[in-house]
Amino acid sequence: MIILGIETSCDETSIAVLKDGKEVLSNNISSQIDIHKEYGGVVPEIASRHHIKNIATILEESLEEAKITMDDVDYIAVTYAPGLIGALLVGISFAKGLAYGHDIPLIPVHHIKAHIYGNFIEHNIELPCIALVVSGGHTNIVYIDEKHNFINLGATLDDAVGESYDKVARVMGIGYPGGPIVDKLYYKGNKEALKIPEPKVDGYDFSFSGIKTSVINAVNKARMKGEEFKPEDLSASFQEKVVDILCKKTLKAAQDKGVKQIVIAGGVAANSLLRSELSLRASKIGIKVNYPSMTYCTDNAAMIAEAAYYKLKYGKEPIFADLTLNGKATLDI
Ligand code: KG4
Ligand code: ZN
Repeated sequence: MIILGIETSCDETSIAVLKDGKEVLSNNISSQIDIHKEYGGVVPEIASRHHIKNIATILEESLEEAKITMDDVDYIAVTYAPGLIGALLVGISFAKGLAYGHDIPLIPVHHIKAHIYGNFIEHNIELPCIALVVSGGHTNIVYIDEKHNFINLGATLDDAVGESYDKVARVMGIGYPGGPIVDKLYYKGNKEALKIPEPKVDGYDFSFSGIKTSVINAVNKARMKGEEFKPEDLSASFQEKVVDILCKKTLKAAQDKGVKQIVIAGGVAANSLLRSELSLRASKIGIKVNYPSMTYCTDNAAMIAEAAYYKLKYGKEPIFADLTLNGKATLDI
């Protein structure tokens, strides 16, 4: 079974070919990071314009690499929510055109669920499990049962984790996207340098705006006094706090629900400390942690095709969309 996956929800244009739910025959990703870098964040209209310019070439390349033609494609899977609306509409319109032109069924895919399914490409994931979803737009703890039902247990009450990484990096003036840069600086800094108060949030919900503000205040204070601040120290203190909270809440959810498997998903799942720390703490209480390899962490179309594969297997009706399919900027899990 061949599924063609299409992803354009933010600043990556990606098309993948997935065979039988496990074999990624191609997964071409065109990142616009260098274009948006100079603005310090993704500019929605520019993102849409680049998707429309690149998408046909990426399709050609993906089919060629997978050594197939559109005649071999059984299903087309496309991200329809959540994301930047103009960016989503490029992928959706393109997918609809292909589906109509080649008479192929169209499967709409939820971007955040697809991030979770990014784990299923390379690992045998035991269900039920707890998924920690951490990206530029989302921070959720999700319970997934044996029948692939998704139950949201908690979410951020303010900023998403990735968003706070990007914001503190911008204020420190160390580049974009902030996540990978802060992650590297963490190992060079003193994590005791800045005392960051623990946010008071019950249950499985999160709050990152206070942690972000602690760093911003430290930068502003230093600048007002005409003093230097050390980005590596602030990065170390920030990341230490953020990762500690993510680990504590995720492990608590896993223990409360009695599950033996945790998966991490989304762009921030690329974070080296989150990967090692959550794995270490979980192993001490007999819980397994999986995370996708780097390519399947940040936005990519292989995970979209993978999510469609499981939607075909376990999804509730309606699995398919017709040509009225529209995009949605926001959508709960
Ligand atoms: O999932 P993603 O590619 O896009 C969406 O938001 O949907 O996630 C992008 C986010 C950015 O905020 C970026 O700073 C963050 O993932 N990120 C990281 C790391 N690599 C990417 N955050 C922390 N540590 C990293 N190593
Ligand atoms: Zn994403």
